Amino acid sequence: MTDVNSDLVAELVAWGIDRREARWLVEEFVVGGDPDTVPALKAAARRRLDGEPLQYIIGHWPFRSLDLDVDPRVLIPRPETEELVGVALIELAKMGVVAPAIMDLGCGSGAIGLALLSELRERGVAATLVAVDESLDSLVIARRNALKHQLHAVSFVHSSWFDDVDPSLKGHIDLIVANPPYVGGEEFAGLDAVLAHEPHGAIVAPDAHGVAGFADLAIIISEAPLWLSPAGVLICEHANTQRDAVVTGAREAGFASVEDLDDLAGHPRIMVARR
Ligand SMILES: C[S@@+](CC[C@H](N)C(=O)[O-])C[C@H]1O[C@@H](n2cnc3c(N)ncnc32)[C@H](O)[C@@H]1O
Repeated sequence: MTDVNSDLVAELVAWGIDRREARWLVEEFVVGGDPDTVPALKAAARRRLDGEPLQYIIGHWPFRSLDLDVDPRVLIPRPETEELVGVALIELAKMGVVAPAIMDLGCGSGAIGLALLSELRERGVAATLVAVDESLDSLVIARRNALKHQLHAVSFVHSSWFDDVDPSLKGHIDLIVANPPYVGGEEFAGLDAVLAHEPHGAIVAPDAHGVAGFADLAIIISEAPLWLSPAGVLICEHANTQRDAVVTGAREAGFASVEDLDDLAGHPRIMVARR
């Protein structure tokens, strides 16, 4: 970092911005030490001081091997969701399908499905992806991210869960991945202020079966078996209070084997249900 840039970082830190974020903003906005870019940096720093997430201000964010475009129309992809992708890759390797058909329900920025396609491509596996979201804005951004990373074997479907997905796919999907909204309405009020900047419909779900925020997971778990191939697998992210509900729901839906994994922080987070 040049002296000029170090001075700018120090200035932003004096404004009250965390040093790591200040460095990130300077690297993002100050092109080659050009003083003409400083006003844009300062405007970005003011947005950060107003509480806007850094990811939306810089407009992109790393997720596994991808750099994904993000803006306030989509959820910012989270580290625990990167773990879900790792679990999915292990399941696909165990399945050994030559060209797996994958469905990403509630694709948002495209994070899960596109990371899977990309990492499978690196391993020489030509997978296909059906990316579903009820938000048209999400589909626009997911499509942009697919083009950015030259991932072409994707169809984007505007649908509430399975409602408008091509019925001819029933019984042919090898892997369904989903990180649906799973926060209960009451719980949401007490959470991190960053969430208030993200789309409410990406985070909060109605209660179901007496479990806060469980309604979307309940739909996905009960309907997934219809769409999965005979050896297919459903992998869902969920809240740390929902382990019993997802495991019971998957057993009731007829999955032969159900496992629930902790995330790296030690919280119940990822359900793996095998037909
Ligand atoms: C928690 S975000 C996950 C986004 C992305 N998969 C990720 O992990 O970063 C949930 C996504 O589900 C979508 N969603 C919410 N309700 C839906 C529904 N009924 N049908 C399809 N998608 C839905 C939201 O628009 C949002 O993109």
